[in-house]
Amino acid sequence: MTRVLVTGGTGVLGSAIVRQLQTHDVAVRVLSRRERPNHGQIEWVSGDLTTRAGLEAAFAGVDVVVHSATSQKAKEDLVITRRVLEAAKVAGTGHALYVSIVGIDRLGFFDYYAAKLEGEKLFAASGVPYAIQRATQFHDFVAMLLTMLGRAPVLLLPRGVTLQPVDPEAVAAQIARAALGRVAGRLPDLAGPEVRSLEDLAVAWLHAQGKRKRMVSLPMPLPIFRAMGSGQLTSEEAERIGQTWEVWLEHHVSSQNSDQRVRVGGT
Ligand SMILES: NC(=O)c1ccc[n+]([C@@H]2O[C@H](COP(=O)([O-])OP(=O)(O)OC[C@H]3O[C@@H](n4cnc5c(N)ncnc54)[C@H](OP(=O)(O)O)[C@@H]3O)[C@@H](O)[C@H]2O)c1
Repeated sequence: MTRVLVTGGTGVLGSAIVRQLQTHDVAVRVLSRRERPNHGQIEWVSGDLTTRAGLEAAFAGVDVVVHSATSQKAKEDLVITRRVLEAAKVAGTGHALYVSIVGIDRLGFFDYYAAKLEGEKLFAASGVPYAIQRATQFHDFVAMLLTMLGRAPVLLLPRGVTLQPVDPEAVAAQIARAALGRVAGRLPDLAGPEVRSLEDLAVAWLHAQGKRKRMVSLPMPLPIFRAMGSGQLTSEEAERIGQTWEVWLEHHVSSQNSDQRVRVGGT
């Protein structure tokens, strides 16, 4: 039976990839820094990609690795990616899939995106048969961003931000299929069904929680908001998949206890 290792299998996207892989006839292994018992079809291996701890056991007998682990610290993120490729080479893994982000080649001034682009180059030059799947920001990321910005009495929004958020479950379904298919190099980009302003997304987010709050848009000169403000994180050409923001909110955010139910993810 094909064995697939998912790095970052406890994260927003990684946990969805694990769920999606379980709908196929494959053995699934998750690498995490946390200890967990094996559960049904899922085998847990504890290890750390920065220190290499546990990597030999994690990669033993693996046919495909889906690299969905990430660190928000750009340098650490690159180290993690290097370690995955080193371990895949040693183990003779036949297919390595890298998860990346739409638009990063245009946004090198943001360290994390520069590291992601470098990660893509490392995969392409590694000699390991590879695939790269880029996606736009996940709905969870938008929810996390709004939760953070909404902690003040007024909802302060960075002016001019445009996003095309996507349901990570839909991205995960495509990644699971690609991981089990033939090695394909750069795959077509994936994006959500709609390009929306952050103000517009915030109105729907407040509405889903039955909240009323004053919103103020301000210029916020952080690199991440500069990247989002230029519209470069959206894509006309990408395949549009998954639930709209409003439908996703219906399932993930209720008018009670909204902060607890919103799943918090990375960039
Ligand atoms: N979030 C978005 O909107 C978005 C959009 C497009 C693409 N992406 C890309 O999708 C991928 C997944 O993002 P995400 O938001 O789902 O990530 P996430 O929720 O922040 O999860 C990060 C994962 O990385 C693992 N990890 C971190 N450091 C590790 C280490 N040293 N050793 C082993 N595992 C480590 C964590 O596992 P443990 O804590 O269990 O060890 C966790 O499962 C990333 O490549 C990201 O760039 C994200």
